[in-house]
Amino acid sequence: MQRIPLSKCFVDAEVEAAALRALRSGQYILSQECQAFEAELAAYTGTRHAILGSSWTMIVYALHRAQGLKPGDEVIVPSHTAFPTMEPLIHCGARPVFIDIDDTYCLDVDQLESRITARTVGILPVHLYGHPADLDRVLGVAAKHHLWVLEDCAQAQGAKYKGKTVGSLGHFGAFSFFPSKNLTVLGDGGCLVTNDDAIAEQVRMLRNHGRKDKYHHELPGFNIRFNEVQGAIGRVMLKHLDRFNEHRRAIAARYRQRLDGIIGVPPERPWARAVYHMFVVRSPQRDALQKFLKERGIDTGIHYPVPNHQQPAVTAKFSPIPPLPRTEAAVKEILSLPIHGEMAMSDVDRVCDAVAEFCGR
Ligand SMILES: Cc1ncc(COP(=O)(O)O)c(C=O)c1O
Repeated sequence: MQRIPLSKCFVDAEVEAAALRALRSGQYILSQECQAFEAELAAYTGTRHAILGSSWTMIVYALHRAQGLKPGDEVIVPSHTAFPTMEPLIHCGARPVFIDIDDTYCLDVDQLESRITARTVGILPVHLYGHPADLDRVLGVAAKHHLWVLEDCAQAQGAKYKGKTVGSLGHFGAFSFFPSKNLTVLGDGGCLVTNDDAIAEQVRMLRNHGRKDKYHHELPGFNIRFNEVQGAIGRVMLKHLDRFNEHRRAIAARYRQRLDGIIGVPPERPWARAVYHMFVVRSPQRDALQKFLKERGIDTGIHYPVPNHQQPAVTAKFSPIPPLPRTEAAVKEILSLPIHGEMAMSDVDRVCDAVAEFCGR
């Protein structure tokens, strides 16, 4: 019996040739491949600037430093996300103000205004599992209260909100290229996209030791640079992104068609074009289901079992934090089923058969 992995990276002859081309170029850091990849990412997203960095976490840290995020500032963020979403702001001394989720697992916009205080400076919506958050409403609240919006697009490269590519709607958007992501560079990597010229210039400097040119350092910065081999790989991956996302959507449609009514399946809003980084089902018997699938050679994941407002790194610093009932209920029931850009429909059916068998159908 062939094991069905939760996700899988694409590597073909063109990817290998791109890596080799970069290896043989004699240029290794922030050179032609990286510049071309940045231009292609900006064009794909529809923003003026795309700034590559060593990870989502580090390029967002550079962003927050460029924004002047400081102790006492508050940023509204859903608890139900990967822990890194809030790491950069915590490193700046700011406070994450947690908000609950709706049934798409994105932030519940109805609660947004009630979380705003005189110290709030920004909102950090996460397009979790590849489903866009309700950005018009987020941006409406942000405009009313003069807040910035950073879209966490780590799981949503290529997703669309009312026809627009995510990352281009907020003031800032950030991508991750970690191997499991929809768009990967087969290693760590990230990218900030924005139309803000001044912040883009600051982030570019902070990424590379505060330099404007080789010998002039305008400010103390960091090394958050990107390399040519991964730039070359990313350029090939970007060409395939839409096709892989389409396939992910077809897999999600099959899961939904076969599993709706058997187990809890996620909704997709009419204005959303989700890209299904994960296909997350819900069951009160989640742990038993995960074991049952494992025994049948099917890998699954839990994204995420511990809500961030209950993580020791957070509670030690920011207690007391009010409860978030929907998040706390979801983390006990969610299970991510296998999905990736090349998954065979016969494997999708095998997963559906096993889930149906577990549910007695
Ligand atoms: C929603 C979300 N935000 C941020 C990150 C951080 O990305 P990176 O690992 O590139 O720093 C991840 C990746 O785990 C993520 O899934």
